[in-house]
Amino acid sequence: TLTTTAALVNAAYQEGRGVAAFNAINLETVEAITAGAEAANLPVIVQISENAVRYHGGLAPLAQAAIAVASSSTIPISLHLDHATDERLVGIAVDLGFSSVMYDASQLSYSENLTRTAAVTHRCHDRGAHVEAELGEVGGKAMDRACRDQGAHAPGVRTDPQQAAAFVASTGVDALAVAVGSSHKMTTRDAALDEVLIAEIRRAVDVPLVLHGSSGVSDEGLRAAIAAGMTKINVATQLNKAFTAAVRETLGADPDLVDQRRYLGAGRDAMAAETARLLTVISHQ
Ligand code: G3H
Ligand code: ZN
Repeated sequence: TLTTTAALVNAAYQEGRGVAAFNAINLETVEAITAGAEAANLPVIVQISENAVRYHGGLAPLAQAAIAVASSSTIPISLHLDHATDERLVGIAVDLGFSSVMYDASQLSYSENLTRTAAVTHRCHDRGAHVEAELGEVGGKAMDRACRDQGAHAPGVRTDPQQAAAFVASTGVDALAVAVGSSHKMTTRDAALDEVLIAEIRRAVDVPLVLHGSSGVSDEGLRAAIAAGMTKINVATQLNKAFTAAVRETLGADPDLVDQRRYLGAGRDAMAAETARLLTVISHQ
């Protein structure tokens, strides 16, 4: 069934658990996340990033497919727009039925991030949508090198707890992504998170916290981060790794293979298995 991100995130927050948000980039990955969640019998947030929208040239086709898959699932699934820098895309996602968006102005100065995030949040709240923002930039994004502000918000700089509290109070955001040692697109799971900082931000801020770049964090690291105060755990690369490894193996084993369903199906099965495994790590505290 289609549910809201607010319902999933707030329930996890109140119970001190994690809730997983996994990135989908095409129909097969939407199906893989859904199949994994059904196998684990756990709810999940399916998120589509602005980068994935750019890849397809628009949000509607993939969004409508994801809504159809989620609606006919046996478990609760919500849809979330991930890393939007384009304010128009935020409006399009809400029009299409997404219950939540991440508006990411973390590469801008603190005051610019605050002003823009407050305006987007106001408009989204008028329409009943839940808003996640980011303060202190989590590195490793495609746009890092293209448009990076200098100084306090350069990738790698950690989120300051008091500034985070002020940011949440002035913008009215529903969830906050924080920089605590993770980085996007890591293919090894050896990032060292600052659990002391997570606990400090958790005490200072009264909305759920979001961990980006969670592929770089080990199972133990994820459990510790959730115990220290993280709620929404975003994973993309780790699931891509599982999908792509199975595709590579399937193609490598048969040079005559031409039916796309053979290797895409193998990728989808492998990603579903990793989805179920990671969901169990993240959701059980
Ligand atoms: O917003 C999405 C996540 O932060 C995913 O990052 O690909 O490093 O897991 P990741
Ligand atoms: Zn992210």
